[in-house]
Amino acid sequence: MWITKIAGTGSCVPEKIITNNDLSEIVDTSDEWIRSRTGIGERRITEELTTAGLAAKAAQNALLDADMKAEDLELILVATSSPEHFFPSVACEVQGMIGGKNAIAYDLSAACSGFLFALNTAYAFLKSGSYKNALVIGADVMSKMVNWKDRSTCVLFGDGAGAAVIRAEMAEDAGMPEGIRHFIMGSDGSGAGVLTCTARSNGNFLLGKESQMGYLSMNGQEVFKFAVKKVPECISQLLSEADEKKEEISYFLLHQANYRIIESVAKRLKLPLERFPMNIEHYGNTSGASIPILLDELNRSGLLSRGDKLVLSGFGAGLTWGAVLLTW
Ligand code: ACO
Repeated sequence: MWITKIAGTGSCVPEKIITNNDLSEIVDTSDEWIRSRTGIGERRITEELTTAGLAAKAAQNALLDADMKAEDLELILVATSSPEHFFPSVACEVQGMIGGKNAIAYDLSAACSGFLFALNTAYAFLKSGSYKNALVIGADVMSKMVNWKDRSTCVLFGDGAGAAVIRAEMAEDAGMPEGIRHFIMGSDGSGAGVLTCTARSNGNFLLGKESQMGYLSMNGQEVFKFAVKKVPECISQLLSEADEKKEEISYFLLHQANYRIIESVAKRLKLPLERFPMNIEHYGNTSGASIPILLDELNRSGLLSRGDKLVLSGFGAGLTWGAVLLTW
Protein backbone atom coordinates (compact mmCIF):
# COMPACT_ATOMS: atom_id res chain seq x y z
CA MET A 1 0.00 0.00 0.00
CA TRP A 2 1.27 3.48 -0.89
CA ILE A 3 1.44 5.98 1.93
CA THR A 4 2.27 9.68 1.98
CA LYS A 5 4.51 10.71 4.83
CA ILE A 6 6.63 13.53 6.15
CA ALA A 7 10.16 12.31 5.44
CA GLY A 8 12.06 15.28 6.87
CA THR A 9 11.61 18.69 8.47
CA GLY A 10 13.64 21.88 8.62
CA SER A 11 13.32 25.45 9.75
CA CYS A 12 15.11 28.77 9.79
CA VAL A 13 14.56 31.83 11.95
CA PRO A 14 16.56 35.06 11.78
CA GLU A 15 19.28 35.58 14.38
CA LYS A 16 18.12 39.00 15.55
CA ILE A 17 15.99 38.83 18.69
CA ILE A 18 13.61 41.68 19.51
CA THR A 19 12.25 41.46 23.06
CA ASN A 20 9.03 42.94 24.39
CA ASN A 21 11.16 45.48 26.28
CA ASP A 22 12.81 46.49 22.98
CA LEU A 23 9.32 47.11 21.55
CA SER A 24 8.31 49.21 24.55
CA GLU A 25 10.91 51.72 23.35
CA ILE A 26 9.17 52.03 19.97
CA VAL A 27 5.46 51.92 20.91
CA ASP A 28 3.46 52.45 24.10
CA THR A 29 3.45 48.86 25.35
CA SER A 30 5.01 46.68 28.04
CA ASP A 31 6.40 43.19 28.54
CA GLU A 32 3.60 42.56 31.03
CA TRP A 33 0.82 43.53 28.54
CA ILE A 34 2.22 41.44 25.71
CA ARG A 35 3.05 38.35 27.80
CA SER A 36 -0.21 38.26 29.72
CA ARG A 37 -2.39 38.71 26.61
CA THR A 38 -0.44 36.56 24.13
CA GLY A 39 2.35 34.52 25.77
CA ILE A 40 4.91 36.23 23.52
CA GLY A 41 8.25 37.21 25.10
CA GLU A 42 10.36 37.91 22.02
CA ARG A 43 10.38 37.47 18.26
CA ARG A 44 12.99 37.12 15.51
CA ILE A 45 13.23 39.87 12.91
CA THR A 46 15.19 39.46 9.71
CA GLU A 47 17.94 41.89 8.79
CA GLU A 48 19.18 40.40 5.51
CA LEU A 49 17.34 37.20 4.70
CA THR A 50 14.28 37.62 2.48
CA THR A 51 11.18 35.41 2.63
CA ALA A 52 12.77 33.23 -0.06
CA GLY A 53 16.13 33.22 1.74
CA LEU A 54 14.57 31.97 4.99
CA ALA A 55 12.48 29.46 3.02
CA ALA A 56 15.52 28.12 1.14
CA LYS A 57 17.48 27.56 4.37
CA ALA A 58 14.50 25.76 5.94
CA ALA A 59 14.20 23.69 2.75
CA GLN A 60 17.88 22.69 2.81
CA ASN A 61 17.54 21.58 6.44
CA ALA A 62 14.44 19.52 5.58
CA LEU A 63 16.19 17.88 2.61
CA LEU A 64 19.16 16.95 4.83
CA ASP A 65 16.79 15.49 7.42
CA ALA A 66 15.01 13.48 4.70
CA ASP A 67 18.33 12.44 3.14
CA MET A 68 17.06 13.65 -0.22
CA LYS A 69 18.67 15.70 -2.99
CA ALA A 70 17.00 18.85 -4.29
CA GLU A 71 17.07 17.38 -7.84
CA ASP A 72 14.76 14.60 -6.66
CA LEU A 73 11.97 17.05 -5.86
CA GLU A 74 9.06 17.15 -8.29
CA LEU A 75 6.96 19.79 -6.54
CA ILE A 76 7.89 22.83 -4.44
CA LEU A 77 5.05 24.68 -2.74
CA VAL A 78 5.54 27.78 -0.64
CA ALA A 79 2.75 29.04 1.57
CA THR A 80 3.36 32.73 2.15
CA SER A 81 1.52 36.01 2.43
CA SER A 82 4.67 38.11 2.51
CA PRO A 83 6.58 37.51 -0.74
CA GLU A 84 9.24 39.97 -1.92
CA HIS A 85 7.66 40.10 -5.37
CA PHE A 86 4.24 39.57 -6.91
CA PHE A 87 6.23 37.49 -9.39
CA PRO A 88 8.29 35.41 -9.61
CA SER A 89 6.91 33.25 -6.82
CA VAL A 90 8.91 32.60 -3.65
CA ALA A 91 8.75 28.92 -4.63
CA CYS A 92 10.57 29.63 -7.91
CA GLU A 93 13.18 31.68 -6.04
CA VAL A 94 13.66 28.79 -3.60
CA GLN A 95 13.92 26.35 -6.49
CA GLY A 96 16.75 28.42 -7.95
CA MET A 97 18.51 28.78 -4.59
CA ILE A 98 18.47 25.08 -3.70
CA GLY A 99 18.85 23.66 -7.22
CA GLY A 100 15.54 21.81 -7.37
CA LYS A 101 15.66 21.92 -11.15
CA ASN A 102 13.27 19.03 -11.79
CA ALA A 103 10.37 20.41 -9.76
CA ILE A 104 7.46 22.63 -10.62
CA ALA A 105 7.23 25.46 -8.12
CA TYR A 106 4.51 27.86 -7.08
CA ASP A 107 3.16 29.80 -4.11
CA LEU A 108 -0.10 29.44 -2.33
CA SER A 109 -1.80 31.99 -0.10
CA ALA A 110 -3.88 31.08 2.92
CA ALA A 111 -2.18 33.33 5.52
CA CYS A 112 -1.60 31.57 8.85
CA SER A 113 -3.34 28.39 7.57
CA GLY A 114 -1.06 28.37 4.52
CA PHE A 115 1.22 25.50 5.50
CA LEU A 116 -1.76 23.20 5.99
CA PHE A 117 -3.29 24.28 2.67
CA ALA A 118 0.02 23.59 0.92
CA LEU A 119 0.39 20.25 2.68
CA ASN A 120 -3.16 19.36 1.61
CA THR A 121 -2.30 20.27 -2.02
CA ALA A 122 0.94 18.26 -2.01
CA TYR A 123 -0.90 15.33 -0.43
CA ALA A 124 -3.49 15.36 -3.23
CA PHE A 125 -0.75 15.29 -5.90
CA LEU A 126 1.11 12.45 -4.18
CA LYS A 127 -2.03 10.48 -3.47
CA SER A 128 -3.08 10.73 -7.13
CA GLY A 129 0.28 9.34 -8.21
CA SER A 130 1.30 12.52 -10.09
CA TYR A 131 4.45 12.99 -7.99
CA LYS A 132 6.38 11.08 -5.35
CA ASN A 133 8.56 13.77 -3.76
CA ALA A 134 7.37 17.21 -2.69
CA LEU A 135 8.69 20.06 -0.58
CA VAL A 136 6.16 22.09 1.39
CA ILE A 137 7.31 25.35 2.98
CA GLY A 138 5.62 27.94 5.17
CA ALA A 139 7.58 31.20 5.13
CA ASP A 140 6.71 34.71 6.23
CA VAL A 141 8.45 37.96 6.96
CA MET A 142 5.66 39.58 8.92
CA SER A 143 7.96 42.40 10.05
CA LYS A 144 7.50 44.07 6.67
CA MET A 145 3.70 43.68 6.74
CA VAL A 146 2.97 45.34 10.08
CA ASN A 147 2.85 49.02 10.90
CA TRP A 148 5.56 49.50 13.52
CA LYS A 149 3.58 52.44 14.92
CA ASP A 150 0.50 50.29 15.59
CA ARG A 151 0.99 48.66 19.00
CA SER A 152 -2.14 46.52 18.61
CA THR A 153 -0.55 44.46 15.81
CA CYS A 154 3.23 44.98 15.64
CA VAL A 155 3.88 43.22 18.96
CA LEU A 156 2.25 40.00 17.79
CA PHE A 157 4.36 38.87 14.85
CA GLY A 158 7.79 37.53 13.93
CA ASP A 159 9.71 36.21 10.91
CA GLY A 160 10.65 32.64 10.01
CA ALA A 161 10.27 29.63 7.77
CA GLY A 162 9.57 25.94 8.22
CA ALA A 163 9.64 23.13 5.68
CA ALA A 164 8.68 19.50 5.27
CA VAL A 165 9.69 16.95 2.63
CA ILE A 166 6.67 14.83 1.71
CA ARG A 167 7.26 11.46 0.13
CA ALA A 168 4.99 8.76 -1.29
CA GLU A 169 6.38 5.35 -0.42
CA MET A 170 5.36 1.73 0.06
CA ALA A 171 4.26 1.03 3.62
CA GLU A 172 6.43 -1.44 5.49
CA ASP A 173 3.39 -2.75 7.31
CA ALA A 174 0.21 -2.56 5.24
CA GLY A 175 -1.97 -3.12 8.31
CA MET A 176 -0.78 -0.05 10.20
CA PRO A 177 -2.18 3.39 9.34
CA GLU A 178 0.89 5.48 8.53
CA GLY A 179 1.79 8.90 7.26
CA ILE A 180 -0.74 11.60 6.42
CA ARG A 181 -4.20 10.17 7.06
CA HIS A 182 -6.96 12.73 6.94
CA PHE A 183 -7.59 16.45 6.40
CA ILE A 184 -10.37 18.89 7.25
CA MET A 185 -10.02 22.21 5.44
CA GLY A 186 -12.29 25.25 5.41
CA SER A 187 -12.65 28.79 4.09
CA ASP A 188 -15.17 31.54 4.79
CA GLY A 189 -14.71 34.60 2.60
CA SER A 190 -17.52 36.43 4.39
CA GLY A 191 -14.95 37.00 7.16
CA ALA A 192 -12.38 38.52 4.79
CA GLY A 193 -12.44 41.93 6.49
CA VAL A 194 -11.46 40.58 9.91
CA LEU A 195 -7.78 40.28 9.03
CA THR A 196 -6.37 41.98 5.94
CA CYS A 197 -3.30 43.48 4.34
CA THR A 198 -3.82 45.55 1.19
CA ALA A 199 -1.55 44.88 -1.78
CA ARG A 200 -0.49 47.35 -4.51
CA SER A 201 -3.22 46.15 -6.85
CA ASN A 202 -5.76 48.57 -5.34
CA GLY A 203 -4.76 51.29 -7.83
CA ASN A 204 -6.62 52.09 -11.07
CA PHE A 205 -4.91 53.86 -13.98
CA LEU A 206 -8.15 54.95 -15.74
CA LEU A 207 -9.66 56.34 -12.54
CA GLY A 208 -6.39 58.07 -11.69
CA LYS A 209 -6.11 56.10 -8.45
CA GLU A 210 -2.56 55.58 -7.20
CA SER A 211 -1.62 52.14 -5.94
CA GLN A 212 -0.87 52.03 -2.23
CA MET A 213 0.76 49.43 -0.06
CA GLY A 214 -1.21 48.84 3.10
CA TYR A 215 -0.33 47.43 6.48
CA LEU A 216 -1.77 44.42 8.23
CA SER A 217 -5.00 45.28 10.03
CA MET A 218 -6.92 43.03 12.34
CA ASN A 219 -9.99 42.84 14.51
CA GLY A 220 -8.21 40.94 17.29
CA GLN A 221 -11.28 40.00 19.27
CA GLU A 222 -13.10 38.62 16.20
CA VAL A 223 -10.03 36.54 15.28
CA PHE A 224 -9.89 35.28 18.86
CA LYS A 225 -13.57 34.25 18.86
CA PHE A 226 -13.25 32.61 15.44
CA ALA A 227 -10.16 30.63 16.45
CA VAL A 228 -11.40 29.29 19.79
CA LYS A 229 -14.63 28.07 18.14
CA LYS A 230 -13.38 26.81 14.78
CA VAL A 231 -10.17 25.02 15.81
CA PRO A 232 -11.77 22.62 18.35
CA GLU A 233 -14.69 22.07 15.97
CA CYS A 234 -12.47 21.11 13.07
CA ILE A 235 -10.18 18.91 15.21
CA SER A 236 -13.24 17.07 16.58
CA GLN A 237 -14.58 16.56 13.05
CA LEU A 238 -11.15 15.37 11.86
CA LEU A 239 -10.85 12.76 14.60
CA SER A 240 -14.43 11.61 14.25
CA GLU A 241 -14.11 11.13 10.46
CA ALA A 242 -10.80 9.30 10.90
CA ASP A 243 -12.29 7.17 13.70
CA GLU A 244 -9.48 8.19 16.05
CA LYS A 245 -9.75 9.00 19.77
CA LYS A 246 -8.42 12.34 20.99
CA GLU A 247 -6.71 10.58 23.90
CA GLU A 248 -4.60 8.65 21.38
CA ILE A 249 -3.04 11.79 19.93
CA SER A 250 0.47 12.41 21.25
CA TYR A 251 0.65 16.08 20.26
CA PHE A 252 -1.60 18.78 18.85
CA LEU A 253 0.53 21.29 16.94
CA LEU A 254 -1.53 24.44 16.65
CA HIS A 255 -0.79 27.66 14.81
CA GLN A 256 1.13 29.80 17.29
CA ALA A 257 -0.91 33.01 17.36
CA ASN A 258 -1.71 33.36 21.02
CA TYR A 259 -1.10 31.29 24.17
CA ARG A 260 -4.63 31.98 25.36
CA ILE A 261 -6.16 30.65 22.12
CA ILE A 262 -4.21 27.39 22.49
CA GLU A 263 -5.17 27.14 26.18
CA SER A 264 -8.82 27.65 25.31
CA VAL A 265 -8.70 25.01 22.53
CA ALA A 266 -7.16 22.49 24.97
CA LYS A 267 -9.87 23.27 27.49
CA ARG A 268 -12.68 22.93 24.94
CA LEU A 269 -11.27 19.59 23.80
CA LYS A 270 -10.92 18.56 27.47
CA LEU A 271 -7.26 17.69 26.96
CA PRO A 272 -4.17 18.53 29.06
CA LEU A 273 -2.25 21.57 27.85
CA GLU A 274 0.98 19.49 27.87
CA ARG A 275 -0.21 17.85 24.64
CA PHE A 276 -0.11 21.28 22.94
CA PRO A 277 3.57 22.15 22.47
CA MET A 278 4.28 25.86 22.11
CA ASN A 279 7.15 28.08 21.03
CA ILE A 280 5.20 31.34 20.74
CA GLU A 281 7.19 32.80 23.65
CA HIS A 282 10.32 32.88 21.47
CA TYR A 283 9.02 33.59 17.97
CA GLY A 284 5.63 35.32 18.24
CA ASN A 285 3.22 34.62 15.40
CA THR A 286 5.23 33.68 12.31
CA SER A 287 2.04 33.15 10.28
CA GLY A 288 2.46 30.38 7.66
CA ALA A 289 5.77 29.33 9.23
CA SER A 290 4.55 28.68 12.76
CA ILE A 291 3.32 25.08 12.41
CA PRO A 292 6.31 23.73 10.42
CA ILE A 293 8.81 25.47 12.74
CA LEU A 294 7.12 23.84 15.74
CA LEU A 295 7.04 20.45 13.99
CA ASP A 296 10.74 20.75 13.17
CA GLU A 297 11.60 21.65 16.77
CA LEU A 298 9.68 18.62 18.05
CA ASN A 299 11.29 16.37 15.47
CA ARG A 300 14.83 17.57 16.27
CA SER A 301 14.35 17.45 20.02
CA GLY A 302 13.69 13.70 19.71
CA LEU A 303 10.19 14.02 21.16
CA LEU A 304 8.58 12.22 18.21
CA SER A 305 8.66 8.43 17.91
CA ARG A 306 7.56 6.34 14.98
CA GLY A 307 3.88 5.54 15.34
CA ASP A 308 3.07 8.72 17.29
CA LYS A 309 -0.23 10.24 16.19
CA LEU A 310 -0.15 13.98 15.58
CA VAL A 311 -2.74 16.60 14.75
CA LEU A 312 -1.63 19.85 13.08
CA SER A 313 -4.19 22.65 13.00
CA GLY A 314 -4.17 26.23 11.83
CA PHE A 315 -6.42 29.22 11.28
CA GLY A 316 -5.96 32.57 9.66
CA ALA A 317 -7.00 35.31 7.30
CA GLY A 318 -9.49 34.49 4.60
CA LEU A 319 -10.92 33.32 6.88
CA THR A 320 -9.27 29.93 6.53
CA TRP A 321 -8.72 26.95 8.80
CA GLY A 322 -7.66 23.34 8.64
CA ALA A 323 -6.40 20.30 10.48
CA VAL A 324 -4.52 17.15 9.51
CA LEU A 325 -4.10 13.83 11.27
CA LEU A 326 -0.90 11.91 10.68
CA THR A 327 1.01 8.98 12.09
CA TRP A 328 4.71 9.80 12.42
N1 ACO B 1 0.33 47.32 24.54
C1 ACO B 1 -0.43 47.94 25.45
N2 ACO B 1 -1.74 48.16 25.28
C2 ACO B 1 -2.29 47.73 24.12
C3 ACO B 1 -1.57 47.09 23.14
C4 ACO B 1 -0.18 46.88 23.37
N3 ACO B 1 0.63 46.26 22.49
N4 ACO B 1 -2.37 46.78 22.10
C5 ACO B 1 -3.59 47.20 22.44
N5 ACO B 1 -3.56 47.79 23.67
C6 ACO B 1 -4.63 48.38 24.43
C7 ACO B 1 -5.79 48.80 23.58
O1 ACO B 1 -5.56 50.09 23.05
C8 ACO B 1 -6.93 48.77 24.55
O2 ACO B 1 -6.87 49.94 25.32
P1 ACO B 1 -8.23 50.68 25.78
O3 ACO B 1 -8.94 49.68 26.64
O4 ACO B 1 -7.71 51.87 26.52
O5 ACO B 1 -8.95 50.99 24.52
C9 ACO B 1 -6.58 47.62 25.48
O6 ACO B 1 -5.16 47.39 25.30
C10 ACO B 1 -7.31 46.34 25.17
O7 ACO B 1 -7.23 46.12 23.76
P2 ACO B 1 -7.91 44.88 23.13
O8 ACO B 1 -7.66 44.86 21.68
O9 ACO B 1 -9.32 44.79 23.61
O10 ACO B 1 -7.08 43.72 23.82
P3 ACO B 1 -7.41 42.20 23.88
O11 ACO B 1 -7.51 41.79 25.29
O12 ACO B 1 -8.50 41.79 22.94
O13 ACO B 1 -6.05 41.59 23.32
C11 ACO B 1 -5.16 40.65 21.29
C12 ACO B 1 -5.65 41.90 21.98
C13 ACO B 1 -3.97 40.10 22.07
C14 ACO B 1 -4.76 40.98 19.88
C15 ACO B 1 -6.31 39.61 21.32
O14 ACO B 1 -7.50 40.17 20.83
C16 ACO B 1 -5.98 38.43 20.53
O15 ACO B 1 -5.13 37.64 20.87
N6 ACO B 1 -6.71 38.20 19.43
C17 ACO B 1 -6.44 37.07 18.57
C18 ACO B 1 -5.88 37.57 17.34
C19 ACO B 1 -4.54 37.03 17.01
O16 ACO B 1 -3.91 36.29 17.72
N7 ACO B 1 -4.10 37.47 15.88
C20 ACO B 1 -2.85 37.10 15.42
C21 ACO B 1 -2.86 37.19 13.96
S1 ACO B 1 -4.12 36.38 13.26
C22 ACO B 1 -3.69 34.89 12.99
O17 ACO B 1 -2.65 34.46 13.28
C23 ACO B 1 -4.66 34.08 12.37
